[in-house]
Amino acid sequence: MIRVLLVGAGGMGSCHLDCWRRMDDVEIAGICDVFEGRAAEKALPGEAVFTDMDEALATLTDLDIVDIATPSYLHRELSCKSLARGIHTVCEKPLALSKEDGEAVFKTAEEAGVFFMTAQVVRFMKPYLALREMVKTSRFGNVLRARFNRLSGTPDWSWENWMMDEKKSGGVPFDLSIHDVDYIVSVFGKPDRVEKTRTVHREDGRLTDAYRADLTYGDACISAEAGWYSGKMPFSATFTVVFEQAVVSFDGAALHVYHATGESEEIDLTTDSNAISGINITSGDGYFEELSYFKRCVQTNTAPTAVPKEEVLCVLSLAEQK
Ligand SMILES: NC(=O)c1ccc[n+]([C@@H]2O[C@H](COP(=O)([O-])OP(=O)(O)OC[C@H]3O[C@@H](n4cnc5c(N)ncnc54)[C@H](O)[C@@H]3O)[C@@H](O)[C@H]2O)c1
Repeated sequence: MIRVLLVGAGGMGSCHLDCWRRMDDVEIAGICDVFEGRAAEKALPGEAVFTDMDEALATLTDLDIVDIATPSYLHRELSCKSLARGIHTVCEKPLALSKEDGEAVFKTAEEAGVFFMTAQVVRFMKPYLALREMVKTSRFGNVLRARFNRLSGTPDWSWENWMMDEKKSGGVPFDLSIHDVDYIVSVFGKPDRVEKTRTVHREDGRLTDAYRADLTYGDACISAEAGWYSGKMPFSATFTVVFEQAVVSFDGAALHVYHATGESEEIDLTTDSNAISGINITSGDGYFEELSYFKRCVQTNTAPTAVPKEEVLCVLSLAEQK
């Protein structure tokens, strides 16, 4: 049994908890959340509850994994706490709000000789795995241009409204855009050039934060448009990638290929992603995949390579560049 401590049981922590509970070989040793009563509300009989991570680490001495799903400004401090105790740790994105803080986390993991992974879930999602394979195999030739979109109503539901505080969440560049920029860097590498535009508007307590990063690779411009728009706009994540011999488009539900020759096809996303990813993950949803991937790395004592340090630090450095 792999024993997990979850730290932060809000929106994303609850999603992680659900994933861990769906794994046969995982036991939730404890749940820690500073919000009085929240851990208890989520815990099942036999799962310990805490409001303080130090107390949880001092009490639960046989943990295999700590999972950090707290607000982003706490990621460095809390990840370093569990890593320094020699416990494998997975932490939600963004790893940190600066490259320097990110480096400190990896350094702590290296010094402790344990595994660390940033939970960049998009890398584990099927449409994005399928696209990665198309790019890597040049099945439709080279990429000429691409656009990734990630749009949402402004997240005004977080604990103490931390997301709306730029110093705590990093705003859209760190909180939302980082999903696509991380994916782009993981597929295309470090860009030759980056240009960014951002519009932030606050009115009557409401926030609009609209951001675009254009990453240039030779002649190809790969854009990531991300925004929190005031109002109840539903979340959407889509992409359009223009290859030499096809246009590949994901509308949030289906992945289509429009061939230059005139035919079109819908890609079957229900097949086992091992076939398309080349990395060792099985079918299912992205959150489940990323956590079960990390769990398998711990079980088999294999260093996680799906979210490499160099790429995470590159992305943090791009996000913090003015
Ligand atoms: N991968 C994704 O798709 C995705 C989506 C949403 C959020 N996130 C990330 O997940 C993280 C959490 O976001 P959220 O939406 O769940 O926020 P949230 O506000 O819903 O939950 C955060 C929880 O952390 C708790 N907390 C705060 N300080 C703590 C501490 N010191 N120790 C223990 N618990 C503490 C809060 O009480 C709260 O319950 C953020 O880093 C965010 O960027 C990722």
